[in-house]
Amino acid sequence: MNPEAYYNLSYGIYLITAIDNDGKKVGCIANCAIQVTSNPSQLLISLNHDNYTCVAVRETKKLAVMVLGENVGADIIGTFGYKSSRNTDKFASIPYKNIKGLPVINDAICYFIINVKNEFETNTHTLFVGEVEECDLIKKDIPMTYSYYHKVKKGLSPKNAPTYQKGNDKGMEKTNGKTMHHFKCLLCGYIYETEDEELPSDFTCPVCGAPADQFEKID
Ligand SMILES: Cc1cc2nc3c(=O)[nH]c(=O)nc-3n(C[C@H](O)[C@H](O)[C@H](O)COP(=O)(O)O)c2cc1C
Repeated sequence: MNPEAYYNLSYGIYLITAIDNDGKKVGCIANCAIQVTSNPSQLLISLNHDNYTCVAVRETKKLAVMVLGENVGADIIGTFGYKSSRNTDKFASIPYKNIKGLPVINDAICYFIINVKNEFETNTHTLFVGEVEECDLIKKDIPMTYSYYHKVKKGLSPKNAPTYQKGNDKGMEKTNGKTMHHFKCLLCGYIYETEDEELPSDFTCPVCGAPADQFEKID
């Protein structure tokens, strides 16, 4: 098995939101959202059983999908991709509108409101297939691909993403013969490489916006 084969599959970066049975607004980042039929238009989303968003969608059978752009705020991926709605109000400081009863953030390219029609189980993820009730454009940007997220944003696949591979969150090798130091963001796993021994105090994570004191020196 050559894990590099997986790096050639193409994905986007999406935000999935839902409301749980108690009316709490929840949501998580997902790289797997695809249109599977056109008449009626149906989308498929893959959510890990451990994610609270998966629990809420199972309860209410409704979700919203938002396409995120290359210029999306780092706080969106940090909040929705690396924290759980179980113990966080993810919408506390994120501007959004209620559309068909679901939270749709302003910082997205477009949205789809989905009524779940079928659920398929795997050992770790539930695949939700649902019909599009409504969709519209929100703002102009280039849709972010997963490859852009990795190469430009230097983001990593967290444990609950379907694309996670064990060991892909290790530090990087030395470059150009210089001794480089590596600092890992404790929130999102981003690894910053520098010749400096310390991070500047005003440094913030380019992926999730975490401050310098949330970084751990790896080597
Ligand atoms: C780039 C990226 C892609 C992700 N893709 C998925 C995905 O497709 N499915 C999934 O269940 N989780 C995915 N995750 C992980 C969830 O967003 C993450 O576990 C989140 O904290 C779950 O929040 P919740 O407990 O509020 O649902 C991804 C995270 C990132 C940063």
